[in-house]
Amino acid sequence: MTNHNETDYVLPGKAESYWIATTPESNYPPISGDTHVDVAILGGGIVGITTAYLLKEAGVPSVAVIEADRIITGVTGHTTAKVTSQHGLIYDRLISKFGKQQAQQYAESNQAAIEKIASIVSSKGIACDFVRKPAYVYASSEESVGDIRNEVDAAQNLGISASFKADLPLPFKTYGAVCFSNQAQFHPRKYLRALARETEGDGCHIFEKTRALKIEGDGPVTITTDKGTIKAHKVIQATHFPIHDKPGMLFQRLYQSRSYVLGVRIEEHFPQGMFISAEEPVRSLRSQSAGEGELILVSGEGHRTGEGNEIDHYRNLEKWIRSVYSVNSINYHWSTQDVITVDHVPYIGRLTSDNENLFIATGFRKWGMTTGTVAAMILTDMILGRSNSWEEVYNPSRFKPLESAKTFFSQVAEATKGLIGDRIVPVHEKASQILPGEGAIVNIEGEKVAAYRNDAGVLHKLDPSCRHMGCIVSWNNAENTWDCPCHGSRYNATGEVIKSPAVYGLHKKNVNE
Ligand code: FES
Repeated sequence: MTNHNETDYVLPGKAESYWIATTPESNYPPISGDTHVDVAILGGGIVGITTAYLLKEAGVPSVAVIEADRIITGVTGHTTAKVTSQHGLIYDRLISKFGKQQAQQYAESNQAAIEKIASIVSSKGIACDFVRKPAYVYASSEESVGDIRNEVDAAQNLGISASFKADLPLPFKTYGAVCFSNQAQFHPRKYLRALARETEGDGCHIFEKTRALKIEGDGPVTITTDKGTIKAHKVIQATHFPIHDKPGMLFQRLYQSRSYVLGVRIEEHFPQGMFISAEEPVRSLRSQSAGEGELILVSGEGHRTGEGNEIDHYRNLEKWIRSVYSVNSINYHWSTQDVITVDHVPYIGRLTSDNENLFIATGFRKWGMTTGTVAAMILTDMILGRSNSWEEVYNPSRFKPLESAKTFFSQVAEATKGLIGDRIVPVHEKASQILPGEGAIVNIEGEKVAAYRNDAGVLHKLDPSCRHMGCIVSWNNAENTWDCPCHGSRYNATGEVIKSPAVYGLHKKNVNE
């Protein structure tokens, strides 16, 4: 694909995630008419499907998963699919900021998630490339060695099988690593497609191409969608970023980060293990057995959504992987957008403590294979009225002043910036400078316009105000989308919404070029 930007850099390989490219598209029907269920789950990623599966297994008579697009095509379809309790360097910080008891809950729950996935794979005989591997966070510089050693001590203190490794079988200089043994990796779509098949039927539904527009009531809850209405006793929002919030609850305590993946084939033998750097810019590596030989997934370059030049991040990753391995081919490129909480621990539980029927799961900080499974286990217990010993650390109503205040206020400042348009740096003075296939924010007749010229030369003019809360969207030049920097809504080039929390497309702008 050629991009008409100033560098003419050609994005390498197929513009699709390996997981989506190697599995058939699902084809569940949309909702039709009015439906009643015990539990409705918005979002068909790992949280939604696993929760529906566990609820059905536990005997809940009717559960519905409602997905705006096709299931497992959002964040879960674009992950690197490491199944690990090692989430970068986290445990030393968790102990100091949350205390040992809650750090223990985090560690135990994520270890339990690995075993839950392993037991489902085994009991259902799911062929999903599940393999046990060690996971490593390595120091790229001497300054990080102390952090690595502290992490080893913290993880051991919490009962994780962690050790310090002085040397790694990687072709570049490292300064030691923390190793977690007996972690895993898998093919997330093969796994979750099997769970979806197990879930559907006998009163349980998966509705695709059904966009939830509104949630009303405290119980039963009414969900209005673009295809019909669904009433449920309990509702879980597992939509990445929730579409329904209570004032002050979440929107200012979550932000979005975009990161990038290349699927490459290399000359060398890749070692057993999953690797990630302790420092920024993050460099993450894992292998995946694939039909025509092993594929290496190299990822990183995370940045706040809507900031920076997306193509540059792919170029940085390509340059780096070519500097450390002999690359035979780059077969895939894709990117993903993750939600991060201000204290870096997911929100799983009741949206507000006074409402028994509305639940959320979000903020997985790029580690959603395990934390998404943790969410499914906790939410299943909460809905069934069972006690769960990990709830406290993930409680969405928590606020850790010492840990969160600085990030919280900088997040408010970022969101405010987006709302008043400080981010806007028009790429083009005039719409006439926009080439076919390009988009930019421009001034036309004194008004800001999100302008995109299609390959036939037609200029689409849109109001750049995000339909969620009015932040100004930015052009993503790698994926040809409009991305909102505030809470991560995304729109295609012509303004149709493709990612919540916005549920409606950008307005057309009636101005002359
Ligand atoms: Fe919230 Fe755009 S996603 S304002």
